[in-house]
Amino acid sequence: MNEPLSRQAGQPVDPAQVPQRRLYTGATMPAIGLGTFGSDHVAAAEIAAAVKDAASVGYRHFDCAAVYGNEAQIGHALQDVMQSGVAREELWITSKLWNDMHGEADVVPAFMQSLRDLQLDYLDLYLIHWPFPNHHAPGVSVASRADDAQPYIHANYMRVWRRLESLADQGLVRHIGTSNMTIPKLKLLLRDARIRPAANEMELHPHFQQPELFDFAVANGIQPIGYSPIGSPARPERDRTPDDTVDIEDPVIVEIAARHGVHPAVICVKWAVQRGQTPIPFSTKRRNYLANLRATVDDPLTDDEMRAIAAIDKNNRLIKGQVFLWKNGQPWEDLWDVDGEITPP
Ligand SMILES: NC(=O)c1ccc[n+]([C@@H]2O[C@H](COP(=O)([O-])OP(=O)(O)OC[C@H]3O[C@@H](n4cnc5c(N)ncnc54)[C@H](OP(=O)(O)O)[C@@H]3O)[C@@H](O)[C@H]2O)c1
Repeated sequence: MNEPLSRQAGQPVDPAQVPQRRLYTGATMPAIGLGTFGSDHVAAAEIAAAVKDAASVGYRHFDCAAVYGNEAQIGHALQDVMQSGVAREELWITSKLWNDMHGEADVVPAFMQSLRDLQLDYLDLYLIHWPFPNHHAPGVSVASRADDAQPYIHANYMRVWRRLESLADQGLVRHIGTSNMTIPKLKLLLRDARIRPAANEMELHPHFQQPELFDFAVANGIQPIGYSPIGSPARPERDRTPDDTVDIEDPVIVEIAARHGVHPAVICVKWAVQRGQTPIPFSTKRRNYLANLRATVDDPLTDDEMRAIAAIDKNNRLIKGQVFLWKNGQPWEDLWDVDGEITPP
């Protein structure tokens, strides 16, 4: 007989029960990962401790990036995880190339640094974090622009992509992919890539469902990985604007959460997994990251609940990316090709 859910709540999850995504290569990836971006206020050591403990309760997928500034600490945690008996092949480790490393000579060294920091000999997925080479100092105001900031230049992006393809050829990374892309940019990449992107990491939560980009990715064999799946309630100040809405306070989410006896965050995660994306919620609290993992195996949402959440999309992008714009006074929408064409320089 199944145990009541209340008694299961604090129990680890068997990784074999966690839903998996099949990528176009035939490889499988756990349909939930742990985010590792501390939003500028959670210390690297605390995040690394969460990685280690999350593995002990059943997480196998970790979303990392050089710019999060904590890959070395996470590397130690991953060593501990493997020494505790989890085989490398059971883990799914993603990292990302930061914007200041788009120079042709910089891509491979940046990748090798992540690999060294994470103490691994291959990655499962390596993403180009943003399609712009525009860098900004940590903590700058959103109005700040790098002097050498550039628009999207496809030839330059492809030079970076060729380097990622060479890493895949050498077996140093199993899959390569994109992040913060748009449909017109992905169309060009799909036209020109020798190795197609296996995933696109994109902002996805109930108030920002991106249905066109989601459908385009799925139709082209690109797995959508959903970042800020809970609506990033602790995101940095620079990523807040007065019009932002709050997913976990939405009456529809709150009502469904009450019915299931869970926090509204858990409903966001459940919706994401059932819709077909791969959410990567961040948390350093066992109660929360375990509840998010349990969300993928317990008590699914009904079709009516899925439909009710589909209807609360508000097209509310939270991570607008203003610091990556290339001209003064430009609207942030220019980063996102909202007219269906790549924004001209
Ligand atoms: N590719 C990109 O450009 C990009 C951009 C942004 C983010 N990301 C990735 O996506 C990950 C997740 O996004 P995010 O960190 O912005 O936001 P998020 O996952 O939507 O929200 C994280 C926040 O939700 C809270 N939380 C998590 N589970 C909860 C639960 N069950 N109950 C209550 N509160 C809960 C966490 O607090 P506690 O720690 O207190 O639990 C934390 O403050 C990042 O860590 C990063 O790996 C990628």
